[in-house]
Amino acid sequence: MRALLFTANNEPMSVEEVTLDAPAQPGEVHVKWKASGVCHSDLSVWEGKLPIPPGCILGHEGAGVVVSAVDSKTGLAPGDHVIGNFVPICGECFYCKNGQPYVCSQGQIIGMSRFPFSRSDGSRFFGGMGGLATFAEESVVHEAALVKIPADFPLGQACLIGCSVTTGVGAVLNAAKVTKGSTVAVIGCGGVGQAVIQGARLAGAARIIAIDLSEAKRASAARFGATDSVDPAVQDATGAVMGMTEGRGADYAFEVVGHPALQRQAFDMTRTGGVCCWVGVPALDTEVSIPAAMLTLLNKSIIGTIYGSCDVREDFVRFVNLAKKGDLDLANMVSRRIKLDDINDAFTEMLEGDAIRSVVEYD
Ligand SMILES: NC(=O)c1ccc[n+]([C@@H]2O[C@H](COP(=O)([O-])OP(=O)(O)OC[C@H]3O[C@@H](n4cnc5c(N)ncnc54)[C@H](O)[C@@H]3O)[C@@H](O)[C@H]2O)c1
Ligand SMILES: [Zn+2]
Ligand SMILES: [Zn+2]
Repeated sequence: MRALLFTANNEPMSVEEVTLDAPAQPGEVHVKWKASGVCHSDLSVWEGKLPIPPGCILGHEGAGVVVSAVDSKTGLAPGDHVIGNFVPICGECFYCKNGQPYVCSQGQIIGMSRFPFSRSDGSRFFGGMGGLATFAEESVVHEAALVKIPADFPLGQACLIGCSVTTGVGAVLNAAKVTKGSTVAVIGCGGVGQAVIQGARLAGAARIIAIDLSEAKRASAARFGATDSVDPAVQDATGAVMGMTEGRGADYAFEVVGHPALQRQAFDMTRTGGVCCWVGVPALDTEVSIPAAMLTLLNKSIIGTIYGSCDVREDFVRFVNLAKKGDLDLANMVSRRIKLDDINDAFTEMLEGDAIRSVVEYD
């Protein structure tokens, strides 16, 4: 079977034939992926900005079908439709026991400690984030990284729930807890940002301000629920948000690009008493400067959120059901359907193009 091998930072990845070990340990599940989104976090790993070394197969936004499972405690069986969760849930650690499975301390150890793929030269590859390896046609994954979903929802859209949708909608509903009638500013309207916009619409925000350099993405944002937009290339984004809010700033401002200067910008455009939520992930060695007294004197909050602070075991199915009802539009988040060989191009498209999400489709 074929997989896209990540062998060196910033060098084009190549698709090769690899051999996949059969699942052998209790809890291991053989999955045939049907679709995988290409997320900016994959690009950040490839660029060396996030701490996952080469020698693995990337991809963490996938949906597929179970081929076989060994002694599954969660009852996974052949034919089940599943979405991969990139933070596997051990269920035993401090965080899992205290309602924060999205920061499970064992998750990445469970995910990345197995090397089920072997190349023709005999070298072994692990699955990157969560051990998922959704840039392979098939994978062997721990069941802690899989959630069963109803079989009547298209996997080509369900894959987006594996990262962008859960991260963005969860950031609004679970982390920032956006209230009805509020004003929400969103810096960065890529895959995750559009999901933040959809989440804000679901939460009943009265005004949703989409800020992105791309005109096409601002236009998509309007279709997903944004009421206003700002082109930061022609207007100071903070000034524009102040102008739309009688000089106060937004009740909630989300940074969804992953850049320290924009995290600061989100803080500046948050009103006194408001919530600034950081969703984007900048390079690990960067820092942000905030005027020290102002966090206190202006009673602002800065919150970070990973995976939308969701419990994926409940929220994946919840988001599938919202999509089935038409309350979440996943179909229009898929801008391009591509093949495994096109992922290098999808990275370029992500940086320079208009696609919200490129989605790899497997036969
Ligand atoms: N917290 C989490 O759990 C989590 C999960 C997934 C992704 N992420 C992170 O979220 C960020 C966004 O991911 P994505 O997949 O949506 O990326 P993306 O590349 O699809 O979108 C980024 C968007 O930011 C826009 N942008 C770039 N510079 C800008 C600027 N100066 N002002 C306004 N907009 C600008 C781009 O035009 C693009 O639309 C990344 O940092 C990614 O690593 C975080
Ligand atoms: Zn992601
Ligand atoms: Zn845990």
